[in-house]
Amino acid sequence: MSLDSLKVLDGILDHGIPFKSVPHQESQSPMGEKLQDPALEVRTIPKATITQQDVLMFLRTLPAESVDLIMTDPAYSGMNQHLLLGKGRIVGNYQEKEESRWFEEFHDTSENYGRFLSECKRVLKNDRHLFLMFDSFSMLSLGAMVRDFFNVKNIITWDKVNIGMGHYFRRQTEFILFASKGKRPVTRRDIPDIWKIKRLHRAAYPTQKPVELFEAMIASSKAKSDANFVVCDPFVGSGSAAIAALRQGSHFVGCDISEKAVALSRKRVKAFLKTGIDIEQEKPAFDEALQKKFW
Ligand SMILES: C[S@@+](CC[C@H](N)C(=O)[O-])C[C@H]1O[C@@H](n2cnc3c(N)ncnc32)[C@H](O)[C@@H]1O
Repeated sequence: MSLDSLKVLDGILDHGIPFKSVPHQESQSPMGEKLQDPALEVRTIPKATITQQDVLMFLRTLPAESVDLIMTDPAYSGMNQHLLLGKGRIVGNYQEKEESRWFEEFHDTSENYGRFLSECKRVLKNDRHLFLMFDSFSMLSLGAMVRDFFNVKNIITWDKVNIGMGHYFRRQTEFILFASKGKRPVTRRDIPDIWKIKRLHRAAYPTQKPVELFEAMIASSKAKSDANFVVCDPFVGSGSAAIAALRQGSHFVGCDISEKAVALSRKRVKAFLKTGIDIEQEKPAFDEALQKKFW
């Protein structure tokens, strides 16, 4: 990455939520780690930036090869267009009128998805990972396209432990496609490809994912020696990925097209930085024994 690109990314990170506002007397990072050298504090404390923007516009603002990990959970439209429930009824938030929906869907035509993947490839550094979430429908329709851009390594099944909605077998799983740009090992060799992490009930944001799900992605990609690791989620929603990045001592850049999502995720991140408490997910979704397997 050129020096100019680095400056652009630094500028982006300095924008938005000012991490330097973490109280100075604090001797712990947001993850609870002791900061060893006060001179390193400013660089050690992660920064996060959340922008209100369309995914493609946002990714185009990032310099080439500027992020260390992309992990994201797009708002696919396919599921709602094609897997209508029962007599063509769509349930939950989709019952609401278009203008009162919480969020827009990303139009996952192959042209649009190709543009998205191509931008992801451009902004990701070489020898880095991508975690891309899919529901069962979009996995069938779009999953194979990822191979045109990345080296697909595995599909992780997220087992949500409790069943959810669904016609013809109620859904308990979602998929996370794991791929690399270039070569990069995962941090441990004993992590299985089924991740048992409880779904959230009554979350503030529809489709809000447990922070631990994203933490597991970072923990399996980020090596101990990686300094200034930058994580990107361009469909940020409630900001679970941002909280995960901070908990794992990483910088975060992300966006969402929805004003509500951006307001909620920024508020969540600010509160977390100030108090160390995640106001949108107070209870862990992972039991401690399982957590030890990951980090
Ligand atoms: C499935 S949700 C993400 C939920 C998130 N992972 C969480 O844990 O809260 C998808 C998000 O994509 C956003 N979105 C939809 N179309 C978008 C677009 N074109 N650009 C950026 N964000 C978009 C929606 O507003 C929504 O918040």
